[in-house]
Amino acid sequence: MSLLAAKRLEKHYGHHVVLENLNFSVEPGEFVTLVGASGCGKTTFLKMLLGTEAVSKGSLTLDEKPIPNEPGPDRGVVFQKYSVFPHLTVLGNVMMADELHSSKLLGKASVPPSAAR
Ligand SMILES: Nc1ncnc2c1ncn2[C@@H]1O[C@H](COP(=O)(O)OP(=O)(O)OP(=O)(O)O)[C@@H](O)[C@H]1O
Ligand SMILES: [Mg+2]
Repeated sequence: MSLLAAKRLEKHYGHHVVLENLNFSVEPGEFVTLVGASGCGKTTFLKMLLGTEAVSKGSLTLDEKPIPNEPGPDRGVVFQKYSVFPHLTVLGNVMMADELHSSKLLGKASVPPSAAR
């Protein structure tokens, strides 16, 4: 049983076919890298894995169940721009959410009533 499986997976935006007939499987513990020319659909695929983009055709399953149509705590993506800290490693970026969560210096944004207009 594969951890992740794509079978005849397709993604279209209107008439624009971004991914077509994508077939592969990932076994538990495997480390996978996506490589391809700019615009070939890497980010689109990751968004389907995250659940922020719907599958157009075919199937994409995690533990033999279709990927849910919304993000969940079991899947995460560190995007290549905007949200990554370039001075940190990939692992450092992934761990940042945990660090921020446990930081004592991170306060809730609040405006005292006297300062609110
Ligand atoms: N929301 C969208 N609506 C329409 N077309 C889109 C949308 N998102 C992506 N595309 C198109 O899908 C194709 C694949 O884009 P994608 O961003 O997945 O490529 P990529 O492989 O991640 O490229 P890069 O290496 O530059 O990050 C591109 O032609 C892009 O213009
Ligand atoms: Mg991309």
